[in-house]
Amino acid sequence: MASLSDFVDLSSPALLVSAATIAFNPIFWNIVARAEYNNHILTRIFGGPYNGCYFLAFTIFAIGIVRDHVYQVALDEQSFYAPVHQPIIGGILFASGSVLVLSSMWALGVTGTYLGDYFGILMDAPVTGFPFNVTGSPMYWGSTMNFLGVALWKGKAAGLLLTAEVFVLYWFALQWEDPFTAEIYAKRERERAKKQGGKKQ
Ligand SMILES: *[C@@H]1O[C@H](CO)[C@@H](O)[C@H](O)[C@H]1NC(C)=O
Repeated sequence: MASLSDFVDLSSPALLVSAATIAFNPIFWNIVARAEYNNHILTRIFGGPYNGCYFLAFTIFAIGIVRDHVYQVALDEQSFYAPVHQPIIGGILFASGSVLVLSSMWALGVTGTYLGDYFGILMDAPVTGFPFNVTGSPMYWGSTMNFLGVALWKGKAAGLLLTAEVFVLYWFALQWEDPFTAEIYAKRERERAKKQGGKKQ
């Protein structure tokens, strides 16, 4: 009977390190962002919300580069599996995923991309143009497409496994983040309404 270990070298240390960095990143930024929201930990350390947010942005960006590098190394160590080798589909996925990620960073700016809402740096209005008219979470789904694209480009079954991990992690992250950030903005709307109500019409 075929088993997973026929297609994926599960004993590879790089595979485990890759799985660990994929899990670590969203857990890390969610814990830090909540700590910032509750205790203003980075705002205090860096002497202001913008400095704190820029520090977090830099850190998330840096650990993202490490994660992507480890993923490449882990896949390069795996054996090639021809049915997974779909370079054209992989290339299209990687290109589209990159468009989603980069255009959402462009639309949101640094603080909007990197959890500025938790620092009290709120967007003036929700961003509804591209890529947010395609998906509500272009960053997460674009990044997932990039992982899948690399797996298909290189023809590595282990990449499919790690992409599944990325998908599950991001899905849980969204369940955890979206209601929370929605409440941050709802709170601002309530405060605005209160102010408005205090004024003469
Ligand atoms: C999203 O917005 C862009 C730019 O405004 C537009 O070209 C595109 O057709 C829109 N996509 C969808 C799915 O509405």
